[in-house]
Amino acid sequence: MAKFSHKTLEKSPILLVVGILVVVAIGGIVEIIPLYLMKSTIERVEGMRPYTPLELMGRNIYIREGCYNCHSQMVRSLRSEVERYGHYSLAAESLYDHPFQWGSKRTGPDLARVGGKYSDEWHQIHMIRPKDVVPESIMPGYPFLANAELDYTQIESMLKANAAVGVPYTPEMIENAVEDLLTQADPDSLPEAFLERYPKTAVRDFDGNPDMVTEMDALIAYLQMLGTLVDFDLFEPEENKR
Ligand code: HEC
Repeated sequence: MAKFSHKTLEKSPILLVVGILVVVAIGGIVEIIPLYLMKSTIERVEGMRPYTPLELMGRNIYIREGCYNCHSQMVRSLRSEVERYGHYSLAAESLYDHPFQWGSKRTGPDLARVGGKYSDEWHQIHMIRPKDVVPESIMPGYPFLANAELDYTQIESMLKANAAVGVPYTPEMIENAVEDLLTQADPDSLPEAFLERYPKTAVRDFDGNPDMVTEMDALIAYLQMLGTLVDFDLFEPEENKR
């Protein structure tokens, strides 16, 4: 038998292609097979719940206004990131995002954990004219959001659409979508039933204008819950528990 050297392989295009295919296939198998043997690639964590109707509307405004063009929503697992923004983002934290807002463009800071970092008043001023609270800011203002009455006529369908792609909205949540939206924005409401459906949720007048539910209400409700659902004092990654 002739000696089989690497030279033989390199001189025959067909042998070389077959050889490449075999090697790539081995690499592929090593990467792909474990995914089928794992229970899930997304570790479930305690505290995650679907967006409330008001937060979901806020999220839609966030997308409509293109906030993602300047802001990411994913804290990378690098020391510099974790020191600046807090615990790195978990896959489960964007489990109910359709589409997710991870992003890689950061003209402004990451917003994955901005919830609770500032007061509602800070956000109101910042959204109207960012320079009033951050003098060196290059973020554009969105003053019209404060005067735009929130159009929530489609909210029930939006919950249904999310449910269709796997977000665990119950029939009860869908049925009460409009009521839940109004409840969350009204500090004088009776929120018991709402809070049962959406635990750990802030009920208040987010935009400081009690006369109207505005797009600002929805956007601030959304920003204030970002990254607040998982309690990281209690969270421990699955691999540490073994
Ligand atoms: C042109 C880029 C740009 C766009 C578009 C933009 N931002 Fe910003 N954003 C920035 C920059 C730069 C900062 C940092 C300076 C500041 O705080 O204003 C910032 C800061 C912020 C902060 C404070 C974050 C922190 O941790 O201090 C929030 C909240 C925020 N933006 C929300 C939004 C929302 C909501 C929208 C869409 C309605 C939006 N931004 C659109 C550039 C942008």
